[in-house]
Amino acid sequence: MLVTSRSFAEYEAMFGLTALPASVLDCCAGGSGFTAEAARRGVDAVAADPAYGLPVAELAEAVRRGTTAGGSIVGQNADHFVWDWYGSPAARDDIRAEAAKAFLADRELAPERYVAASLPELPFPDGRFELVLCSHLLFTWADVFGLDWHLRALREMVRVCDGEVRVFPLVHQGAGEPVAFLPELLERLALPTEVRQVPYEFQRDANKMLVISKL
Ligand SMILES: C[S@@+](CC[C@H](N)C(=O)[O-])C[C@H]1O[C@@H](n2cnc3c(N)ncnc32)[C@H](O)[C@@H]1O
Repeated sequence: MLVTSRSFAEYEAMFGLTALPASVLDCCAGGSGFTAEAARRGVDAVAADPAYGLPVAELAEAVRRGTTAGGSIVGQNADHFVWDWYGSPAARDDIRAEAAKAFLADRELAPERYVAASLPELPFPDGRFELVLCSHLLFTWADVFGLDWHLRALREMVRVCDGEVRVFPLVHQGAGEPVAFLPELLERLALPTEVRQVPYEFQRDANKMLVISKL
């Protein structure tokens, strides 16, 4: 799985963020620049990813690979992607390269913000974060992780959350097929959920996030 580097602006759009909370966890954050920028804006921001357990040089190499290799997934599924949000492949590459740079600099500056952790278990106390974000792990990799794993991962993110968990996208990687077990997953989760449209689309029609509200 690639360690990709989506930017703060991509997160704002994917998760329909209009205001920032006091505390936020980016779970499966990879090389994203979200935490660096949120922290710069005064938010208590933490990122979690198993890749943070790698030695520094290996993580930097994984992030570098993530900024270049993603293009081949898009290339192999060209008909299933739309470019309205980015404008062009070159603009997308620039956004990702900047985000990777921001991530690597912030990880060096404030390593305590970047916690090595793997769903479905997170090393945080109950209700630690006002908002938990999860981009491009759940559902994206539903061919690797099944319904039961997704259920445990969602429950764990809900446990460390005091407000909302938001997950994007809700489709498989590549061609963006719907995830067949999503309705059963939400039924078994048995929490207030909403599938909400967001102002971001890259995989065609994948413009919805899942919002889970803590009871
Ligand atoms: C496609 S990347 C997404 C990175 C970032 N959220 C973004 O949108 O650019 C998926 C990330 O999930 C991480 N990952 C893989 N298994 C995980 C797990 N069990 N728990 C949390 N993160 C995991 C990978 O290391 C990788 O960085």
